[in-house]
This record gives sequence, structure tokens and C-alpha cells, in this order.
Amino acid sequence: MSEPKKNRREFLTKVGAVGAASLVAGSSGAMADLPTKSKGAEKLAINGGTPVRKQRLSFRAYGPQFYDDVERRELLDVLEARAPFRWRGPNSKVLQFEKAYAEHLGVKYALGVTSGTTALFTAMAALEIGPGDEVIVPAWCWYADYDTVVLSGALPVFAEVDDSFNLDPADFEAKITPRTKAVIAVHLQGCPADMDPIMEIARKHNIRVLEDFAQCVGGKYKGKYVGTIGDIGINSFQLSKTITSGEGGAVVTNDKELFERAIRFHDVGTIRSPYREQLKGGLLAAFASCNFRMSEFTGAVLKGQLQKLETICGRLRRNTRKVIEGIADLPGLKLRKSPDREGDIGVTVYLDLGNRKRRDQFLRALRAEGISAHGPAGSVILPLAKRIEDKVTVHPDWPSFKTPQGKAIQYGAACCPRTIDIIGRHGGVIMDPNFTDKELDDIIRAIRKVYPVIANA
Ligand SMILES: Cc1ncc(COP(=O)(O)O)c(C=O)c1O
Repeated sequence: MSEPKKNRREFLTKVGAVGAASLVAGSSGAMADLPTKSKGAEKLAINGGTPVRKQRLSFRAYGPQFYDDVERRELLDVLEARAPFRWRGPNSKVLQFEKAYAEHLGVKYALGVTSGTTALFTAMAALEIGPGDEVIVPAWCWYADYDTVVLSGALPVFAEVDDSFNLDPADFEAKITPRTKAVIAVHLQGCPADMDPIMEIARKHNIRVLEDFAQCVGGKYKGKYVGTIGDIGINSFQLSKTITSGEGGAVVTNDKELFERAIRFHDVGTIRSPYREQLKGGLLAAFASCNFRMSEFTGAVLKGQLQKLETICGRLRRNTRKVIEGIADLPGLKLRKSPDREGDIGVTVYLDLGNRKRRDQFLRALRAEGISAHGPAGSVILPLAKRIEDKVTVHPDWPSFKTPQGKAIQYGAACCPRTIDIIGRHGGVIMDPNFTDKELDDIIRAIRKVYPVIANA
């Protein structure tokens, strides 16, 4: 079993999330393997019945729907000041955004960078991850979670996900070796990872916790914003994230030393004002570093977007709650697991259809009813990617795969059978903060119409 070659996230990035369902194979036409009737059931649109909706209902990228005069004013400030470089004193939009973001999340330090990928890279440097270290990564997440471990010279070790699509704490513990330096707890598609057991296991084994909340900005776990629970957190502001500047990222932490290393790494080894004064010149020596500085244009948009974050999350949560309430009485219904439904942003209403065949039938039938339906999206089953399975690097002597462990490790389907099963049997609807009550009712109607027929097949 393997995922489609071109994953949906790549597609969403290109088309701005609209119309993603059209990419999924077999999205129209009656299915020979789909039941044509079920006792007392309405005839499904895929079998020639009347669809719930004539026009396909689909989500759109969230943040840009909320762009208005707030972002416009912030951007104009930068243009009119002719000051697009972040180190420009207290008027810096990036600096103002960093302060507001840290305060909003309830964390001591936030650093703006150019992307989620460079934020991950920066966090790896802050945690001093390098050759000989192992980093545990969920088998279902984004390329950057694997790539930045490899590009740091360390060895990625995959752990299975559970029915929340996030890191399975038990398998995380099973994958620990004396060389494990860190784990990446990734909060995927709006759902928080189960941080209590992850933190407990990590502390027991003296492992650093890097939270990747790129897909869960604004999500909470037991009252705390995700990203602020582990040693260091990173997120992305790319188009498909809750708030967006097209590209961008952030590193957050409560740890002064990690922050100093992050600042230095992202800015050619230096600490500039006002952080130089705040950190009293810094405690650490400079080291080989990068330039991942955020531009003032990005900072300006994000300063505006941050003011919309709770509105976007609040609407998503409300919409998701309404749909879940509307289908809750369906016999045998099993939803995607969430360790904290209140804190979950509510990006998806995903059902467990039991197996991949039934999941695919469910998605095709929902699409025929005029509802854009998806399997788990925005990530990849990393061990199945050819370049990962083959351990391809920019240089044949790359340190990650030169150690005995690096030579011995095998990726591919055999290292994550449970993840493949879980990702293959879930499907449903990706929510939009601006769905109307009528549109939410259509989603409920379509699921209520289709699910019993598929589930009873
Ligand atoms: C979980 C996760 N981590 C990291 C990233 C990388 O972010 P960026 O695309 O901003 O580099 C993404 C991007 O989609 C992501 O989904």
C-alpha cells in the first residue's frame, strides 16, 4: 500500500487549497463496488440520486480570507518608512510581532524566521543536534521534519502515529536508544499531540522535546498553547497554516540559552540590538550559522494576522463542533482521536472507515454529493518517500548514514505498518472558518446520507 506520488499538500501549496478534491483519483462516476441501496436510504448521488449540493463545497486557505485594512496599514508603514530590514529599532514590525506572539502564546521568547523549515533548522542548532545523534520523528508528518535532522548530520528514527495521526507515545518510547537526543512532537492538521506522556517519557530518558506546531498554530493542549510545552517549538506561516504571510516561520522557547543559540544561528552568529541588551551580550560564543532573518514585510503581515488568530480558531472550532454534533448519533461512528477536543483547532472532521477501500468509497460518495472530501492531508508517510527509503543525500559521505546505526537503519513500509493503516482508513471534510450554517448543514446531510450506506456495506 502506498500514498499517491504527488501528495495533496504539494498541490495545496500550488493552488492555494482551492479545488484540492479534484486531484483525488476516481472523484466521479458510479462505482461498481459501491452499494446501490440500503434499507430506507436516499439514493446516493454517486448512484444517480440527487446530490446534496450542486456546487462543490471546499475550504480555502484560512489567513488570506481575513486580510483587511489591518495588514494593509502595517505593510504601508514599512513601505512608507522605506525600511524593509528587521534590525531597525523599536519600530521593527518583526520585533513587534515577536513580542506580541510570545505574549499571546504565553512563552518568554519568540523569534521570526523565513519559514517553518528554517525554524526547524534553527531549533536543531539550538538543541545542538549533530552527527551521532538520533532524533525520533513521526512516520506521518512533513518532509522538513526529516530533512532538517539529516541536514544537521543526525539520524532520523521513525515512530508510528496513533489514531490522532500524531506521535504514538508508546512507540516513541520503544524507539529510544542511548543515542536519542531529541523527539519532534508534531501537532498535525489542527490536532494537539498527546504531550503529557510524551513529556514524561522524554524527561525519564533525558531527551529534548521539539514541538512542531506548524499545522496547529492556536491549538491548545490542556489549556496551554501547543509549541510552549516542550523545550522549544517551531511553526510555519506558509499559506496553508492558520495565519499566514505566504512564507515565514517562528521559533518559541522559555529557555534563554536555547533562544540565544537560535538568535545567533538565524543571524550569522550575531546577537543584535535589542536582544543584545536583553540577553546582556549573550553567554555563548558565536558558531557557524545562517541567515534566516524575517523581512519587515513578512513581520508586518504577521503582526496583523496575529490579531485574527483567535477568530479563525474560534470559528473553526464552532463549525467542527456543529458538524460533530450533527452526526454524533450515527451508529458505529468513530471520529479521528483527539487528546484534547477543546484545544483541537477543529481543522478536520475525519471518520475512521475501518479500511482503505471503504474510506475511498466514502470520499468518492461524499464528493458526488457536492462536498469536498479528503484523506489525511498536508503530510506524507515519510518512510515511503523514495528519496528517504533510499537515504539519498547531497553527498555520498553524509554523516547521518555513515555511522553503524545509519548504515543499518531501514526505512520503507516495514518501519511504519500501523501509520500506513491509520492514514489509509480515515477520511472526511477539511473545515473552513467561513462556512455558513447552510453549508455546515449540507456537510451534515451528506455525511448522514452516505455514511450508513458505506458503513453497512
Ligand atoms: C508539520 C510541518 N512542519 C514544518 C513545515 C515546514 O514549513 P515551511 O513550509 O514554512 O518551510 C510544514 C509545512 O507545511 C509542516 O506542515
